[in-house]
Amino acid sequence: MTTHSESSVQDLQRTALENLWVYLREPSDMAEKGEPQIFVEGKGCQVTDALGNTYIDAMSGLWLKNVGYGQTEIADAAYQQMLQITYMPMGTTTEAAVRLSEKIASITPGDLSRCFFTSGGSESVETALKLARAYFKRIGEPERTKFISRKDSYHGATFGALALGGSYLYPKSDYEPLMPGAFHAPQPNFYHCEFGSSTPEECAERCVDAIDNIIRFQGPETIAAVIAEPVSSPMGAVVPPENYWPLLRELCDKYGCLLIADEVITGFGRTGKMFACEHWDITPDMMTVAKGITSGYIPMGGAILRKPIADAFVGGPRAAFRHVITFGGHPVAAAASLKNIEIMEREGMVENSATMGRYLLDGLEELKAQHAIIGNVRGLGLMCGMELVKDRQTKEHFPADADLGPRLTQGFAEEGILLRGGDVMNIMPPLCVTAGEIEQIVSTLDRVIGKTAQDLGV
Ligand SMILES: Cc1ncc(COP(=O)(O)O)c(C=O)c1O
Repeated sequence: MTTHSESSVQDLQRTALENLWVYLREPSDMAEKGEPQIFVEGKGCQVTDALGNTYIDAMSGLWLKNVGYGQTEIADAAYQQMLQITYMPMGTTTEAAVRLSEKIASITPGDLSRCFFTSGGSESVETALKLARAYFKRIGEPERTKFISRKDSYHGATFGALALGGSYLYPKSDYEPLMPGAFHAPQPNFYHCEFGSSTPEECAERCVDAIDNIIRFQGPETIAAVIAEPVSSPMGAVVPPENYWPLLRELCDKYGCLLIADEVITGFGRTGKMFACEHWDITPDMMTVAKGITSGYIPMGGAILRKPIADAFVGGPRAAFRHVITFGGHPVAAAASLKNIEIMEREGMVENSATMGRYLLDGLEELKAQHAIIGNVRGLGLMCGMELVKDRQTKEHFPADADLGPRLTQGFAEEGILLRGGDVMNIMPPLCVTAGEIEQIVSTLDRVIGKTAQDLGV
């Protein structure tokens, strides 16, 4: 193991604070806490830092380590590809990219069959937005330029994708003005239903009706697409009611706009199916993917289109989609992705996601029965969420000065679990997680939440 001496870790940390931007972190806070922590090794769900401390990564990195850490077969596949060809001459492709597009077409729902590769989730979403607008230009409906997304969602960091998102966790005010033409509908989160619905089904109906209202108010002939995450992460794995996606599909068909499923997190087994849309048996017109497509071994993403949509870009140079992502479809990333999917299928990890996800959710339900501070738990496969509240009746969150997030994060880490604490938490270990590791995660949550509640006087 490549552990370091304490002084060499401190040296690396000083350099990091000077030269490196650690995302979502602020340097003086890291300096005060003796961070950033530097990791050197991973195997399965476990990661080890430079001082030799080992943890279970209950967040799968940034919700992407689907096949787990340390899959040397992926490294071998990438290495073998590097020995052969590492990029393609302009306007050509490689066998690895072709094989991956074929594989993706075979595992995605319905006639989703043409993939535009990118190097990450935001690029995949931007690509989907541009494809949607360009598609309607191709078919003679050029005024369809607007997009509808949902509040409390996240679709990426770039200007277009950021305009679609909307949650207090990722404020947009620093970056405005963003892409015009983005409208936000309610999130089908039954626990906080904006309409005070009495059943999940009613919540779904009213949330879809709200989209219908936006479409009618804006003019159906101006709407290009509705985009949504099948299970939404920012507010803690919000699983929509059963009828939501079928209703959304019906609505988009009624008005002739496209339905884009942003499966950047949910894709590749996270929810206990290869793609989350399969839970509701619907085929979106486009699907955006990234993260789990390579389990984070190398950057990769894609926008995948149904054949009739892709066909609008066939028929001479004027039909072509003029959009380039230099690293999209990189052969080394494609080779790594193919091996990643092969491992996932061979090891039954999608099935394990369903089984272990159920086990985890049962554990979280038990914790909810014991701790009044837990307001709600939810999940689909290994995409589980927990929401902590000051008061179960009012569902009020703790004030910022209660420092709930940092207290929990630190408590979890002291017990060997890496998990970002807060009012809402996403508990998403790798899909290779074992029952023993789930039990360790649940018992840690139990102790740390119990102690935190006591410290906060709840
Ligand atoms: C649903 C969804 N879409 C898009 C993105 C953006 O992906 P990336 O960070 O790879 O650009 C994310 C990132 O978390 C996401 O959760």
